[in-house]
Amino acid sequence: MTGIRFEEVTKAYGDRKVLDRFSMTVHPGEMKILLGGSGSGKSTILKTALGLIKPDKGQVYLGEQNITQMDEEELLKIRGEIGMVFQSGALFDSLTAGENVAFKLREQRKLSDEEIQEKVEEMLGFVGLQETVNRMPPDLSGGMRRRVALARALVGNPKIMLYDEPTAGLDPITGRTICELVMKLRDLERVTSIFVTHDLGAAKTIAGETAKQSPDGTISFIVRNSETPGSTRFVMLSRGAILLEGTEEDLCATDDRYIREFLD
Ligand SMILES: Nc1ncnc2c1ncn2[C@@H]1O[C@H](COP(=O)(O)OP(=O)(O)O)[C@@H](O)[C@H]1O
Ligand SMILES: [Mg+2]
Repeated sequence: MTGIRFEEVTKAYGDRKVLDRFSMTVHPGEMKILLGGSGSGKSTILKTALGLIKPDKGQVYLGEQNITQMDEEELLKIRGEIGMVFQSGALFDSLTAGENVAFKLREQRKLSDEEIQEKVEEMLGFVGLQETVNRMPPDLSGGMRRRVALARALVGNPKIMLYDEPTAGLDPITGRTICELVMKLRDLERVTSIFVTHDLGAAKTIAGETAKQSPDGTISFIVRNSETPGSTRFVMLSRGAILLEGTEEDLCATDDRYIREFLD
């Protein structure tokens, strides 16, 4: 398993500091929920973990590897092990759902067509959308498109998942479906993850429940209590730096004005 570590990461655009000595560790198998207002630097943090944005200062580690100075070729290999659900969740509208999921595999040219087809069916099956394999994204609902984007990110069985506001704009029931998939990956596959969101309801669901699989394969979601081991923590971001890190209780107990306003 692979963890993620940001060490004093600083990034500025012109004279606007977007990340200001941002440090955070996500241990293997752990999840951090990153909360913060619009423009606080959340998407930028995820992009530095993929090497899409290079910090001006500071280091980013994936497992033992320092990726900060890696070149594109090395980064491509690293990115093969990371799944990212982008903020827009954008799919290629001219490709079927199945071809969207297959895209990375076709690029890698490692698997045969049959093997790719098998993978695609497995991934679409995981998000409960096997029947959409030949459908075009514009014909799918917003929630289905988001699930296809999730399936696409899961190709290659990533050890790390980065989610950028995956429930934004979805109705609560569809949002719940996404949250359940995210919890399954965290609790049953032990994927290390960062879940960026504006959606406090989704954040509370994900921090407050655990996915459990019974011997017959049924999956249920159990509300945590003081005995459930929990490793999901909240990180509240403001202007590219951490304002508070802790449990939901810590977050709710704070009298910091910025956080209170965010919670209300
Ligand atoms: N390529 C860029 N050039 C200039 N400014 C940028 C760029 N990308 C992001 N920003 C700015 O950086 C700040 C943080 O952006 P972002 O990380 O996307 O915030 P969040 O995801 O928390 O809403 C915003 O003010 C945004 O306008
Ligand atoms: Mg963003």
